[in-house]
Amino acid sequence: MPASIPVVIDTDPGVDDALALALALASPELSVRAVTTVAGNVDLATGTANAGYLLRILAPGRGIRLGQGCAKPLARDLVTAEEVHGSDGLAGITGHEGWRRRSADSTDIAADAVDVIIEEVAQSPEPVTVIALGPLTNVAAALQRDPAAMRRAAGIVVMGGSLHAGGNVTPRAEFNFYVDPEAADAVMASGLPVVVTPLDVTHQLAVSDETVESRLLSRPEPRSAFLGELIRRARAEQFTGRGGKLLLHDPAAVATLLWPELFTMQSHALTVGGGDGDQRGAMRPTTDNDAGPERTPSQVAVDVAADSAVKRIVERLVAVGDPG
Ligand code: BDR
Ligand code: CA
Repeated sequence: MPASIPVVIDTDPGVDDALALALALASPELSVRAVTTVAGNVDLATGTANAGYLLRILAPGRGIRLGQGCAKPLARDLVTAEEVHGSDGLAGITGHEGWRRRSADSTDIAADAVDVIIEEVAQSPEPVTVIALGPLTNVAAALQRDPAAMRRAAGIVVMGGSLHAGGNVTPRAEFNFYVDPEAADAVMASGLPVVVTPLDVTHQLAVSDETVESRLLSRPEPRSAFLGELIRRARAEQFTGRGGKLLLHDPAAVATLLWPELFTMQSHALTVGGGDGDQRGAMRPTTDNDAGPERTPSQVAVDVAADSAVKRIVERLVAVGDPG
């Protein structure tokens, strides 16, 4: 067993993506080998600039590779979500005088994200887990480009979809699956071990307690203060989920790796609807559709010990600035 689980994080940062990155980077159980960006919450250039910016603040000197990926979905135009995350994707924090983004922020891109995912998966002596926090375009492209290499992956952990919770873009579709349903369906058809963290659990994980912000904002370490300011701005600007609460969608996916005992999983072979009608991005067990293809079942998180999960996530975020 490796001392820590090697992971590649594919992301479209995004306020909750930033919190998920912070959670992963603060967790000794995980070894973050690379961060790759995909178009989703914001356009690709903005998302890549955000990822570089977050790595500089949250993981200075750790030399984590940054790859830039697909600028649009496999077969569609991009749909973004600035109304949820702010025009910069990070609730406006990059224009905040204490946390202003420097103009050279996106110059440290190592390589094409799809190649980075393939290389990390193919070359690691320990099987790598891909954590996908945005539309699944890059992961599907990696599966197309080098399926043999991708079979070496330990698995793919996905934030996306909704089993019984309804959608957050349409009545049936969650954002990441809505944006690139063809990519999501390709991942569900890949035969790799897939863990899906859908809205059914992420809607249970909310930062509603202002002490989170005050605990973070009162810490002397810049990293903690940064996360406190990010959450404060997201809440103040109403870049929030349901009922005025900041939902921890993407941190939930990281948490399934850190604390699997907190999640109730069900095994379902899944399809994701295409087209442009009401089935676009809708995740369905194939048993709901007798004509559906035969597929390897995915593990779907259907319930979570929410109080414990939020408490553990917050404790890690509060401690993010602690040395070593
Ligand atoms: C997902 O959509 C994005 O807006 C969030 O970052 C998360 O990945 C939730 O539906
Ligand atoms: Ca995301």
